[in-house]
Amino acid sequence: MTWNFDEIKETARQEIAQALNDQGLEAFRVKYLGRKGLLAQMYSNLSTLSKEEKPTAGKNINQLRNYITHLVDEKQKECKAKKQTALSSSLDVTIPGVGQVMGHKHLLTQTIDEICDLFEKLGFAVMDTPEIETEFNNFTALNIPADHPSRDGFDTFYVNQKDPTDKDAYLLLRSQTSPGQIRIMQENEPPLAVIIPGKVYRPDAVDASHSFMFHQIEGLLVDKDIKFPHLKGLLTTFCKKLFGKDIKMRFRPHYFPFTEPSAEVDIFWKGGKKQWLEIMGCGIVHPKVFEAAGYKKGKYSGLAFGLGVERIAMLKHGIPDIRLFYENDQRFLEQF
Ligand code: DAH
Repeated sequence: MTWNFDEIKETARQEIAQALNDQGLEAFRVKYLGRKGLLAQMYSNLSTLSKEEKPTAGKNINQLRNYITHLVDEKQKECKAKKQTALSSSLDVTIPGVGQVMGHKHLLTQTIDEICDLFEKLGFAVMDTPEIETEFNNFTALNIPADHPSRDGFDTFYVNQKDPTDKDAYLLLRSQTSPGQIRIMQENEPPLAVIIPGKVYRPDAVDASHSFMFHQIEGLLVDKDIKFPHLKGLLTTFCKKLFGKDIKMRFRPHYFPFTEPSAEVDIFWKGGKKQWLEIMGCGIVHPKVFEAAGYKKGKYSGLAFGLGVERIAMLKHGIPDIRLFYENDQRFLEQF
């Protein structure tokens, strides 16, 4: 039997180029160099050759074995090198890391921050007062009559715990941030200018514009000779800073028990339906409120205002439904 050594070498060269991994290389080695491989067959066939043929054939087979062994060695080195680069690149600390999604402040927090910042620049201090309040602070001290419907269980969440300072009253979840005014005045002597942001609670049925919990920001400034023009000037500056200097606004007379005179502030909203929209209540602090806070009669005067944070954020960003704020849907949250 004769072999075409050149052809075998060429086939082997092509085959080993196809061997892409350790298994491929091992299959190749077994095929040629294995115990039952091609070279083993060739060596065992040598005995069938004539005396004249044997030396050349033997030499060629040896050469072929060396050639194949060389191919296998080279391929082994190549595979090892490849593995090493893969390994070292997987540990390459200079490769940039996988990006992390960064969280950010909720739109309501951003709105509260923005409004508080504006008032801080105007000299107000930001203060925190409790969400669990007394009936006295939430109603009585604010000149809200004892029989006023807002005191009703239908309009206020009462807590199942008595007020430690009044055995006839229960504690409640504040229905407005205004009771914060009383706490601040009881503990501080004017002049004072404060902003009180926070959550308020009302047992309202939930719909696109109502929620049983929402946020308000209360403002209170007390000094001597504070009059309505101060309030008008302050809130006009605020609205222009928040909505832009071209914003149209108006003060519409209204009634609140804790201020006299009182007003609601409307802005003319060009986005959407083009209409006047109420954004806050305000007024000159009622003498009864100063009295409840323990200030000497006639000594001070002040202005107060309260605004709804959700309402402002909905207006500014064209948000149609208050429930979106609380559902934690990332598709909503990530837009702001
Ligand atoms: N507390 C009022 C409310 O929840 C808002 C308000 C109106 C606050 C007038 C004030 C004010 O301080 O002066 O509707």
